[in-house]
Amino acid sequence: MSETTTRVAVFGAGTMGHGIAQVCAAAGFAVQVCDPSEAAREKGLAGVRASLDRMVAKAKLSAEQRDAALGRIGWGGDVGAAVDGADVVVEAVPERVELKRELLQRVDALAPATALLGSNTSSLSITELGAALRDPSRLVGLHFFNPVPVMELLEIVRGVRTAEAAVDRALAFAAALGKTPIVVRDMPGFATSRLGVALGAEAIRMLEQGVASAEDIDRAMELGYRHPMGPLRLTDLVGLDVRLAILDHLHREVGEQFRAPPLLRQMVRAGKLGKKSGEGFYKW
Ligand code: CAA
Repeated sequence: MSETTTRVAVFGAGTMGHGIAQVCAAAGFAVQVCDPSEAAREKGLAGVRASLDRMVAKAKLSAEQRDAALGRIGWGGDVGAAVDGADVVVEAVPERVELKRELLQRVDALAPATALLGSNTSSLSITELGAALRDPSRLVGLHFFNPVPVMELLEIVRGVRTAEAAVDRALAFAAALGKTPIVVRDMPGFATSRLGVALGAEAIRMLEQGVASAEDIDRAMELGYRHPMGPLRLTDLVGLDVRLAILDHLHREVGEQFRAPPLLRQMVRAGKLGKKSGEGFYKW
């Protein structure tokens, strides 16, 4: 893959999109980020810059490597221009099935027929997203984790109609990015989100019931179970809206154990989305 992939298109300049763009650029690929919002593109660029600066400060990267990576990323709002000549396309737009399906259909029509298409969905069905495509065999789940430059895992999701060759290309893409892959079946929430939101939702229910403060619930898992970050702080990092969307989807697909806690829904309605909005279970 590293020999044949030279161009990557990333849709969505948000938390995940700009992180994915960064790791692709750091791996030497030419990257086009596409987002219709200029403000989102500017915020995405600032996020990439801040992350690369941090790596330079930690001597994980030289200033020249940072500048070269930044120079490999182009930012725009036009779908056709973004996928022009792309070898790999990764969509990381908000977790809404219609939005992703519509975008993937446009990408399918405009991208080179040989391009691998990946969705960074946290929980939606790759089979369903692929159903409207002319060639569903080239769609895989490419599920990255936040913060993308730090987290080692790439969860590759095989839809019912995903070709084995597409999975092989996704594995090679993971290797080129320095990520460790797992390949999972297309089941709601895959291997990661299903467990991740179960813990997060239970922590929110515990907060609702006054079991302990947010700080102490988090401290319990950090010190008692050695999680790098407690489930409420992690929900802030991921985005409360993202976790609510995953829970609503799993509630419909899997069952009652994934019913979203009312507190979570209220906080999302109030615009308390976590780190990205400045407030969630914590002030950032
Ligand atoms: N860019 C570059 N480097 C970064 C970074 C970023 N955005 N964020 C952290 N780092 C680096 C730091 O510079 C630091 O480097 P050194 O080891 O060289 O010092 C290292 O990562 C650790 O960071 P910190 O020392 O600042 O803080 P920490 O030790 O508490 O780690 C953390 C921060 C990596 C975020 C850690 O708390 C962690 O792993 N948390 C859990 C994250 C997690 O579970 N993510 C998955 C969420 S689910 C998801 O994303 C998928 C989904 O579908 C929603």
